[in-house]
Amino acid sequence: VPNGKSVVASPGLFDLDAALAEALDHRRHDGLLRRRRTVKPIDAVHVKIDSRVLVNFASNDYLGLTHHPRVLAALRSAGAAGSGAAGLITGHTDAHARAEAAIAAWKNAEAAVLLPSGYQANLAAVQTIAAVAGNNRGTRARFLIDKLAHASLIDAVRQTGMPMRVFPHNGIAKLARLLESSEPGTANIVVTESIFSMDGDAADLPSLAELRRRFGFILMLDEAHASGVYGPRGSGYAAEIGLNDIADISVVTLSKGIGLAGGAIVGSQRLCDVVVNFGRAYIYSTAIAPALATAVVTALDVLRDEPQRQQRLRALSTRVRSRLASSGWAIPRGDSPIIPVVLGTEKAALDAADTLEAQDLLCVAVRPPTVRAGSSRLRITLSCEHTDEQIERLLAALDALRRDSK
Ligand SMILES: Cc1ncc(COP(=O)(O)O)c(C=O)c1O
Repeated sequence: VPNGKSVVASPGLFDLDAALAEALDHRRHDGLLRRRRTVKPIDAVHVKIDSRVLVNFASNDYLGLTHHPRVLAALRSAGAAGSGAAGLITGHTDAHARAEAAIAAWKNAEAAVLLPSGYQANLAAVQTIAAVAGNNRGTRARFLIDKLAHASLIDAVRQTGMPMRVFPHNGIAKLARLLESSEPGTANIVVTESIFSMDGDAADLPSLAELRRRFGFILMLDEAHASGVYGPRGSGYAAEIGLNDIADISVVTLSKGIGLAGGAIVGSQRLCDVVVNFGRAYIYSTAIAPALATAVVTALDVLRDEPQRQQRLRALSTRVRSRLASSGWAIPRGDSPIIPVVLGTEKAALDAADTLEAQDLLCVAVRPPTVRAGSSRLRITLSCEHTDEQIERLLAALDALRRDSK
């Protein structure tokens, strides 16, 4: 026991305080202790921490919408601060109905349901599928999930208690074997992200579409990091590559490229009707704030009116990726604004983050359990609001880091 105290002080008496201290000691000992820093946002790409202004390369505000004047004005225009009740009571206001219709139209789908967070959207989506495909209806069903899927997807699947198999990241051959060997009559539910949150790479959707034609599984696709960034009007990666109909159930987060907070489940009208009947994470939670629902509609309008945001972001990403590769960093292919600079150990990642911060560049070290052991990294994220000068400063700092680490 790190602090020398026994957690179970006497039979039947659990020493909560000692257990809390022990948990923190373990994290500290492993170099994995997390601490929040109090940040003052200045604009889409600057934050102040401890009276120092840093250029932010750690936010998911890819399109700079957190500070967009039209989005801010929409937030202020909402008639009520909170919804006051869950959607099935009196929380589903006209602002929510308008936002759901706008999200459905944006995603070229029949319907959408708004949730207070992306995490909850994933939870409710999985609960919905489990309710209709689960063992409780006498059907055999199991989840097949990509190894790098976000914690919210893993948590959601785990809490159903239904069988789950993990396939290697984008491991189409393994997934095909799992589907082939599936007992007849089993409903397979494949769960994946379109753009992966920590690696910034894309799911192999064309191969998934092919497998889906052969095996007929249910596909749940989390478009958290593709929304706003890919596709017409930022409607997602599936739309970008012409596979808009690939997913039976799509999840978008409003907290990243859309610059707000919240999430949405998108699909058929019937699916959404089932979400409001069986998605416990929807039913038992107060509806997302009307101000956010109002601002979502405006944020989607901005994506339509200002396509240059998406274009600049993708061009910046291509530029940064190719310059980092020429400096010798191993950078995965693609043009998403999430660029992993893998350093290996927790210490190497933390030291690198400190080195950059000393130059007023904020790049956060991502460590296990968020990423696998030995792959601690700087997760660099770009915004269309970053200036060329800021990008050059980042590249120069990473170039120097690379030379020093040799
Ligand atoms: C892939 C993915 N899905 C879902 C979520 C959860 O979204 P939110 O932050 O809106 O709860 C996140 C963000 O953390 C994510 O990266």
